[in-house]
Amino acid sequence: MPSKLSLAFRKAAARDVDALVKVYADSFADKNEATDLDGYIRWSVADRDYRVIIAETADSKIAGFVMTEFNSSTMRNAVNVAQLAVSPEFQGQGVGRALLEQVEETALKNEFDTVTLQVRKGNAKARGLYSSMGFRDMGEEKKYYRDGESAIEMKKYLNPTTVPKAFGIPRYFRRMAGIYA
Ligand SMILES: CC(C)(COP(=O)(O)OP(=O)(O)OC[C@H]1O[C@@H](n2cnc3c(N)ncnc32)[C@H](O)[C@@H]1OP(=O)(O)O)[C@@H](O)C(=O)NCCC(=O)NCCS
Repeated sequence: MPSKLSLAFRKAAARDVDALVKVYADSFADKNEATDLDGYIRWSVADRDYRVIIAETADSKIAGFVMTEFNSSTMRNAVNVAQLAVSPEFQGQGVGRALLEQVEETALKNEFDTVTLQVRKGNAKARGLYSSMGFRDMGEEKKYYRDGESAIEMKKYLNPTTVPKAFGIPRYFRRMAGIYA
């Protein structure tokens, strides 16, 4: 379903860093893990392997942003969603979904066929959004976050012809079968 808001999407620039830091801090609240949030966001906006896409409302407010990593060393042909944050006042209105659609579109345009991400096990809202968009759980990384919470690794194949036959089979069985996709 398209967002209920009228949104425009653009690549973030250095002038957006302060606003992005605020959106991130507000949306993650007590789950904010970054020790140097300003430096982290400034660096990712400038880094050529990262792409930060902003969703902006008709009155030029930043509703949310997604940070993607295009040259992750973990998997060829995969774009990794490093961060997704929607300002609390704009949550539940389709902004997160619209940002992920932008990631998928950009990934396909750049000939990547897979999107990966990691999400807190207890983050029901984010996991619900990702599942509803066709992301599948690929496994659990225990103690991934500094507070000891596990991460669930999720993946979506964007091109139906490249979906491995084993996709959907639990990781444990895939590993036994020597399949590491
Ligand atoms: C998670 C987050 C990015 C979602 O963005 P959003 O704009 O609020 O989400 P959307 O409105 O696009 O999508 C809502 C979808 O989430 C899912 N959802 C919402 N609440 C849910 C819940 N309590 N349980 C399960 N799924 C839920 C539904 O699939 C819903 O789709 P629907 O409205 O069509 O039913 C946003 O809430 C956020 O910034 N949270 C804090 C930071 C964070 O957790 N980021 C993700 C880190 S991996």
